Amino acid sequence: MDNTQNTIVQNDFAVDTIEGLTSDSKYLSSKYFYNEMGSKIFQDIMRMPEYYLTDCELEIFSNLKQEILASFSENNESFDLIELGAGDGTKTKILLSHFLEENANFKYSPIDISSDAVLSLIEDLRTELPNLKVNGLIGDYYNLIGDIKPNGYLKKVLLFLGSNIGNFNDSTSFNFLVGLRKVMCSNDLLFIGFDMKKDPNIILNAYNDPYGHTAAFNLNLLKRINDELGANFNIDEFYHREEYNPDTGTASSYLISKIEQTISINNLDQNIHFEKGEKIFTEISQKYDLDMINDLAIKSGFEVVRNFFDERQYFVNSLWKIKP
Ligand code: AVI
Repeated sequence: MDNTQNTIVQNDFAVDTIEGLTSDSKYLSSKYFYNEMGSKIFQDIMRMPEYYLTDCELEIFSNLKQEILASFSENNESFDLIELGAGDGTKTKILLSHFLEENANFKYSPIDISSDAVLSLIEDLRTELPNLKVNGLIGDYYNLIGDIKPNGYLKKVLLFLGSNIGNFNDSTSFNFLVGLRKVMCSNDLLFIGFDMKKDPNIILNAYNDPYGHTAAFNLNLLKRINDELGANFNIDEFYHREEYNPDTGTASSYLISKIEQTISINNLDQNIHFEKGEKIFTEISQKYDLDMINDLAIKSGFEVVRNFFDERQYFVNSLWKIKP
């Protein structure tokens, strides 16, 4: 038996990594940022004052929770509040506790691909909001939403917060929204967070932070490739750069090779060559204006019911219904 051969790993992460790193313009997918370490770093990012997105959405929820409840449920009709990618639910708790205080007739269904996130959120909510009806779901959004109320009809209000939509490219966000549209009924609502276009310096400061959290968040992808795919990236030989195009509203993250180097990825039996200064594209964080939001809604079969802004209009939570 030949013991010298490597076992070739074949999972989504391996397949996507090799596809991205062997492409003419190298890229890695930001969906792989969120392993245990990446999720911790993202918590640090959300706590930085420069990362205004979290505070803006918190401000919207705190200031406009009455209006938000009134538009989710007219005449106290019952609804299922379904959060896609709920994470630790920090922001949502503001809405949940207000809805309970107002005796709203609802249940909360957080969905996340990470079972740890869902289980610890449920545990947390049991202590903090013991009267809340919670039905946590672990897994893929599309499949689970359709299953939520197979018998009978309960209005669904879907939450997709934090400008997570901005991490999709044009075709992925369109396909995602069309997928949601298909599992929604005429009375259902979609409540999405969008980060607005603004002074480019404010955007760049949120992603080029002085503490190095965003750099660590990106570089963690290379660590993950080392740990899970047996690569030998030297993290110190790469740095993070953010670019923002004010015309398109696209913020882009890159990792850049400081030197010419060749990396081997043992478990994939591949060598990857980098020129000095060569970039790996890692993430898009799209910024929007109201026309872009409107167009996206219409194109994917929705119409905007109402937009909820923070005072500076840095961020919007846009409420959509399906176009009849
Ligand atoms: C999760 N997502 C909306 C964040 C964003 O702003 O694009 C991820 C992030 N990347 C760097 N900082 C935060």
